[in-house]
Amino acid sequence: MTEIKNLTHSYGKFVALDDVSFEINRGDFIGLIGPNGAGKTTLMNTMVGILAADKGEVLIDGEEVAGFNAEVRRKIGYMPSELNTYEMFSPEELLNFLAAMYSLEKTVAKRRISELFEGLEMQEWKRKSIKKLSTGMKKKTAFAAAILHSPDLLVLDEPFESVDPISQHKMKEILKNYLADGGAVIMSSHVLDTVQSICNRFILMNKGKIIKESLVEEVGGNLEDEFFKLVTSLKLNENDDIVSEEENEE
Ligand SMILES: Nc1ncnc2c1ncn2[C@@H]1O[C@H](COP(=O)(O)OP(=O)(O)O)[C@@H](O)[C@H]1O
Ligand SMILES: [Mg+2]
Repeated sequence: MTEIKNLTHSYGKFVALDDVSFEINRGDFIGLIGPNGAGKTTLMNTMVGILAADKGEVLIDGEEVAGFNAEVRRKIGYMPSELNTYEMFSPEELLNFLAAMYSLEKTVAKRRISELFEGLEMQEWKRKSIKKLSTGMKKKTAFAAAILHSPDLLVLDEPFESVDPISQHKMKEILKNYLADGGAVIMSSHVLDTVQSICNRFILMNKGKIIKESLVEEVGGNLEDEFFKLVTSLKLNENDDIVSEEENEE
């Protein structure tokens, strides 16, 4: 189980993540939704320890993620929204490198890597340098890199963005098996239909805070209507308008 407790992160004086708490259990597939600039990426980066929390903590099975506890860190697989590191590597080199870093047993690593390339239909591309790949293929590489070591928790930042429908389907199949094997996923997405069809829970963020957390099945109609209703009512309450909100976007 992952516990996120009072997590807070500021960029200078700007509080991008404001006292956020929730839990993730095995088998959970959480859709993290919210307008641009809501703080989704900041939450994910703080959860995995890329950004330091100003306040609060993240615990996996009772152990803190912050610090350099390699055992806890390897329980997490993280897919950033953009893969712009390791660009000189090919997908195959990257996965081999990560497998060595995670000390995966050689035969296990070989099987996992070939399963992933096969499952994601990347065979033809696995030896090209990542730099030269299409955005969709880079996304699939980042996805494979995140799930390679069978982490307890997968943190995916807009995994399906710019990925073609067939590849999305392949990724979803892999996620389904991963969840059935006892994994847990938190995924940010703007594609609310996808969230509604594959997630069991959703968390709606706005301005660094959670404004709604619920089981997907508890949403009466469609998630898009619910999202629109909630975000619009917040804007009305704050006497805010869409223009001033957009000024704060990435
Ligand atoms: N490195 C940064 N420095 C300053 N402000 C940032 C930085 N990264 C994000 N922000 C701001 O923090 C807020 C949340 O951003 P982000 O977490 O990327 O939101 P989301 O992923 O939901 O679109 C936005 O207002 C954004 O402009
Ligand atoms: Mg983001």
